[in-house]
Amino acid sequence: MVSRYIDDLRGFINTALDEATQFDVNCPVRLREAIRYSLLASGKRLRPILVLTACELCGGNSQKAISAACAVEMIHAYSLIHDDLPAMDNDDLRRGLPTCHKKFDESTAILAGDALLALAFEMLGNLTPLELAGRCCKELAVAAGPCQLVGGQMDDIYRNDFPESGNIQIIEHIHRRKTGALIRTSLRLGSFVAGASEEQQIALNEFGTHFGLAFQITDDLLDVLGNEQTVGKRLRKDTENDKWSYPRFLGVDGARREAEQTLKLAEHSLEFFRNDNIIRNNNLAQNDNLALETLYSMVKHLAKREK
Ligand code: IPE
Ligand code: IPE
Ligand code: MG
Ligand code: MG
Ligand code: MG
Repeated sequence: MVSRYIDDLRGFINTALDEATQFDVNCPVRLREAIRYSLLASGKRLRPILVLTACELCGGNSQKAISAACAVEMIHAYSLIHDDLPAMDNDDLRRGLPTCHKKFDESTAILAGDALLALAFEMLGNLTPLELAGRCCKELAVAAGPCQLVGGQMDDIYRNDFPESGNIQIIEHIHRRKTGALIRTSLRLGSFVAGASEEQQIALNEFGTHFGLAFQITDDLLDVLGNEQTVGKRLRKDTENDKWSYPRFLGVDGARREAEQTLKLAEHSLEFFRNDNIIRNNNLAQNDNLALETLYSMVKHLAKREK
């Protein structure tokens, strides 16, 4: 049931991303191709799935949240294109394909990223009422901005400027911002669109905070333990690039333990919804229930993910 639910959401998201990137004749063909090449490549669509799932969990209709779902995937895709550039992580493989700057060139990759960043906010502008659109724009801007995603990326690059090397608190702080913030915001946006209660928003915010950190810890683990073919990106690069990762400073077992503990906290934040669903609906509404089971299942599988 859960995997069918996730596959359906992914299909819905892929169609919407395709439709949102048709563009009129004013968009140069090469730019359009680069945007679509990176955005439509076979990513897991974790963040937009979280947007839609959070919306349904709070009693909303996922159709209403599709623009917000596309917006977070656009920010994510832009951040990956730029993350792979020679000036950043210098990677040549992404989602099983040559990275954007390898397939096209650096100028095109930079501009495709810029375009996706703007397009994300255009998508949020589709939300109604306007008050919701404004609230979501601000939410995403903060998560993608200088104190969160971009700030985390900056500290990841300039890590050696920190006086202490590899202090785990600093690594956690980097991970929470460069990756955790967008994941947390995905859940928050879904709850905003649903018109969630204060309590629902608090619970999802907490869930997203823990799940987002755990996601980057497991990304670090994949870099050490994963299979390049399955993951679709170059691995063992964190050591090669002297990155500050959880396995580097805690060892593989220590990083696994940290991921598992963080996921326990994430799971704990979902307990609220068990009661919430029962109170709202004596007979659990089917999609609310499936959405909740989906989040539980994501928590269960994250620590052992292979891609
Ligand atoms: C990779 O994200 C980059 C990180 C923030 C760790 P994903 O693992 O979600 O990548 P895709 O979207 O599936 O390609
Ligand atoms: C990427 O972190 C975070 C963002 C893109 C914001 P990583 O550099 O670890 O991601 P991968 O491993 O290249 O996907
Ligand atoms: Mg990086
Ligand atoms: Mg990288
Ligand atoms: Mg990584």
